[in-house]
Amino acid sequence: MLGGIDKERLPIHIAIIMDGNGRWAQQKNLPRVMGHKAGMEALKKTVKSCSDLGIKILTVYAFSTENWKRPQDEVNYLMGLLVEYMRKEVNSLHKNKVKIKLLGEIDVLPAQTRIEIEEAVKLTENNVGLQFNIALNYGGRAEILKACKSIMQDLLNGNIDMNSVDEKVFSGYLYTGYDPDPDLIIRTSGEQRISNFLLWQGAYSEMLLIDQLWPDFDERILQEAIMEYQSRNRRFGALK
Ligand code: FPP
Repeated sequence: MLGGIDKERLPIHIAIIMDGNGRWAQQKNLPRVMGHKAGMEALKKTVKSCSDLGIKILTVYAFSTENWKRPQDEVNYLMGLLVEYMRKEVNSLHKNKVKIKLLGEIDVLPAQTRIEIEEAVKLTENNVGLQFNIALNYGGRAEILKACKSIMQDLLNGNIDMNSVDEKVFSGYLYTGYDPDPDLIIRTSGEQRISNFLLWQGAYSEMLLIDQLWPDFDERILQEAIMEYQSRNRRFGALK
């Protein structure tokens, strides 16, 4: 046990919708982007906490396919923040054996952001510690559609047989491949929506919707979230 957490029953995969950066800034009379900056600090701490706790996979929703609709300045700021995050953090992540993986369409990102991420993914690809998935230019529906198209292409090319396409095979076509589904999805800031996040993978995830704004998220809140998860009774549609 660690501060009330049963280390034997940790969630293998935690996914987080990091929401509330804008409101955090607003409450402090700061520009919205300062909320994102503070959100980056919260993210750094969370990656460290998950790694220290022995969580196997952390997935964070950094930028959705819908976030392009935000004002151009804010989009530019977020893209720049990702570059800053990678530059500042990649060496320490690598030292801590964190493996960075990208979920989403990388091709249309600004060149600098794409390059930093690709380098970080490459540098850390053989690491065996925490797998840190960054959902970036990610949308759950787009991901499922892309998987369908790839399957259809493989069918047309004669690479697979239609009868062999079951849920496991289908999962393999998603960005997350054969990785385990999230056990726990946390959304901060009191919103109660899934917002196109991990639509396939989250079919049986425990949901935890908490009121704290993302920049205020810390190790204590993470530990409470894990304790809450451990108190739930997961049935996957069956009886206990
Ligand atoms: C949602 O808050 C947050 C985002 C759209 C961006 C998440 C980005 C970070 C936490 C920055 C750091 C990330 C990386 C990978 C460097 P919101 O802006 O929708 O908040 P609001 O709902 O209060 O307006």
